[in-house]
Amino acid sequence: MKVVEIKEWGLDKLAVAERRDPEAGPGQVVIRVKAVSLNFRDILMAKGQYNPKLKLPLVPCSDGAGEVMAVGAGVTRAKVGDRVAATFIQDLISRPENGDEDIHKRTLGGPIDGMLAERVVMSERNIVQIPEHLSFTEAATLPCAALTAWNALVTQGSLKAGDFVVVQGTGGVSIFALQFAAAFGARAIVLSSSNDKLERAKSLGAFGLINYKEKPEWAKEVKALTGSGADHVVEVGGSGTLNQSVRALRSGGTVSSIGVLSGAAGEVDLRPIFMRNIRLQGVFVGTRDEFESMNRAISHKRIKPVVDKVFPMAEIRTALEHMADGKHFGKVCISLE
Ligand SMILES: NC(=O)c1ccc[n+]([C@@H]2O[C@H](COP(=O)([O-])OP(=O)(O)OC[C@H]3O[C@@H](n4cnc5c(N)ncnc54)[C@H](OP(=O)(O)O)[C@@H]3O)[C@@H](O)[C@H]2O)c1
Repeated sequence: MKVVEIKEWGLDKLAVAERRDPEAGPGQVVIRVKAVSLNFRDILMAKGQYNPKLKLPLVPCSDGAGEVMAVGAGVTRAKVGDRVAATFIQDLISRPENGDEDIHKRTLGGPIDGMLAERVVMSERNIVQIPEHLSFTEAATLPCAALTAWNALVTQGSLKAGDFVVVQGTGGVSIFALQFAAAFGARAIVLSSSNDKLERAKSLGAFGLINYKEKPEWAKEVKALTGSGADHVVEVGGSGTLNQSVRALRSGGTVSSIGVLSGAAGEVDLRPIFMRNIRLQGVFVGTRDEFESMNRAISHKRIKPVVDKVFPMAEIRTALEHMADGKHFGKVCISLE
């Protein structure tokens, strides 16, 4: 079968390779992968910036969906022909009461071989059935970006109708956050560097639109749109945006710290955080149970993930560059069909 491998660090080093077809052992399923979606992390991984100590060769990309083509002895959660997606964190079914310090060792696309392969084998524990109304490409967008946005706003954020939600940019996580906010009757305020992308966000139900390049002090604009401030900020910007995010919130509002697009370390003014009872919560993707809850909501609300562009497997480098250049709106995908 064909796979993409990272043999050396660098987007230009990504190459299609041949590997032996996997077989399903007891409790395992083999998935014929139909589509993969890209995350910002996949760019960092391929460049060696996520963890340069990872063992190579590595099959990149955490997120994919496909059809079960073989099941091993004792499998009860799936049958041949089922349409499934893999969980980003392997063997994390629910949230352990005392945490789980090893989850970063069990993520697909590094350190575990990822989904950019014609076939993958994994424990039946690590798959979920995908919503019927979604194509494989649409379903491939769910395991990381969608689940992270879902947990920020719903599981950990207790989103309610009428809430004001700030989403930063128009990439994978942020567009899902906008769609979940709209589905819950909340009011999403979208920040983008592009007025064209803001217009597209409006068509997805955005309540407010702010160009963060034209208005670098965008917290003031959020206050003007909301009165007392937002209830949630889905923080993908990191150190370059955190102070604005805190300022944009109402007293008691929540920042979900998810990404570091503008930097991971910087100066944070802690005073408004404690003086205004701001809640700062970290979000790292999610569990299989949460993935299944999210899929129920996606099915019920008929939410359609926004797919920006689909590339063939051999064009993985171009696809990652397209994403790194920030040209996309929503998710960039790879088709293996
Ligand atoms: N914690 C987790 O579990 C988790 C899960 C998924 C992703 N992440 C992280 O979250 C971040 C976003 O991931 P993604 O896959 O959604 O990325 P993505 O699809 O590449 O989205 C990037 C977009 O963010 C916007 N952006 C960039 N810099 C910004 C800034 N300073 N202020 C506001 N918006 C900015 C841009 O939107 P415009 O073009 O509209 O300006 C850009 O297109 C990454 O850091 C990623 O590693 C974390």
